[in-house]
Amino acid sequence: MNKTVRDRRALMHVGPVTIELDVLLAGVKENVGFSSREFVDAMSSSLKGLRKIMGAPHYQSFIIPGGGTSAMESVVSMLKKGDKVLVVSNGVFGDRWLNIFKRYGVSVDSLKAEAGDYVKPEIVEEAVKKNSYTMVTLTHVETSTGVREPVKEVTKRIRDLVQLIVVDGVASVAGEEMRAEEWGIDVVLTASQKALGCPPGAGLLVASPKAVSRISQDMLGGYYLHLSNWLEIMRSLEDGKASYFATLPVHLAFMLAKAFDLIEQEGLENRLKRHEIVGGAIRSGVEAMGLSLVAKEPSTYSNTVTGVKLSKVDPSKVLSSMDEAGIELAPGVHPALAGRYVRIGHMGWITPNDAISTIATLERILHSLGEQVKLGDGVRATQQYLTENIL
Ligand SMILES: Cc1ncc(COP(=O)(O)O)c(C=O)c1O
Repeated sequence: MNKTVRDRRALMHVGPVTIELDVLLAGVKENVGFSSREFVDAMSSSLKGLRKIMGAPHYQSFIIPGGGTSAMESVVSMLKKGDKVLVVSNGVFGDRWLNIFKRYGVSVDSLKAEAGDYVKPEIVEEAVKKNSYTMVTLTHVETSTGVREPVKEVTKRIRDLVQLIVVDGVASVAGEEMRAEEWGIDVVLTASQKALGCPPGAGLLVASPKAVSRISQDMLGGYYLHLSNWLEIMRSLEDGKASYFATLPVHLAFMLAKAFDLIEQEGLENRLKRHEIVGGAIRSGVEAMGLSLVAKEPSTYSNTVTGVKLSKVDPSKVLSSMDEAGIELAPGVHPALAGRYVRIGHMGWITPNDAISTIATLERILHSLGEQVKLGDGVRATQQYLTENIL
């Protein structure tokens, strides 16, 4: 196939994802200094925009270098020696918390779900009642499986029993409903390359007044990601005043500001609905092809990530053939399902057309690789779903 045409690839990945052209162009600029008006304005509007999409009007926003993992690690600066943490893990990214806390000598218990499942709210409540935890960590959408944890319900059950509830929203924020303040969550974090639809490079989080009151130099944590070093910087930048602790990714700040602008224009509710429709259309197509999803319960199907089990063909062949055909999917990374599934990311700027082209291409590739797929079944179901759900 003609090389130029083949290079126009769709990134149906779990992050980074395809970037909207206006967002991309917002980053095409000469370097600017960290005290320039343009940079300060971009940070100020992004910090405000973040609070809106998190449903956290009275929380403190942070945008720090790195990504999801740096945002996760920064949370250590809310803990002191001797504090106990409960990690609720539904997969690979839930487990990441254990590795982080271990590095800082935090005492941790964990509850773990099988691949495709989630730790039920009553189990979390039971564990929290039996212990005295300073912090509980939850993962809103576990990217390794596509399972969404009902964080609102879990929070309701444990709100009065722990000091801090922290939610990893890396694969959910801006694609799934999040009302941090109303639901009583203290910290929600995400990364720039996920449903915000920007390049990688920044970790973003919001923290409740209670969480912020715990941030001080006396707490655990390192240096670069210690939120006590970033707190005043973020407050100044949001107020439109230049401030420096360490250099932030300036071009990314412009792109984030544009992304928050576009989210405002689209309307958060419309954006979430778009994710719901595209996610539903993709799942309909996958199931109509006779394939099963990694997520076990329909109530936990996320609107941002779908894990697809393959019965016959080698997932790496599916990924490389899809890539050749112009659509990049993500590999399965859960060790318990190694070599048995692929993931479709549907977050950011995705449209119903992306669902149609992804399902159409996937069924053609699977058919050609020998999976028992009848051409047309997946696309028909996707079309049917879209017909019924697009107003
Ligand atoms: C749920 C979740 N948490 C954390 C991370 C880590 O984010 P990053 O790779 O930006 O450090 C990811 C990355 O995919 C994720 O999906």
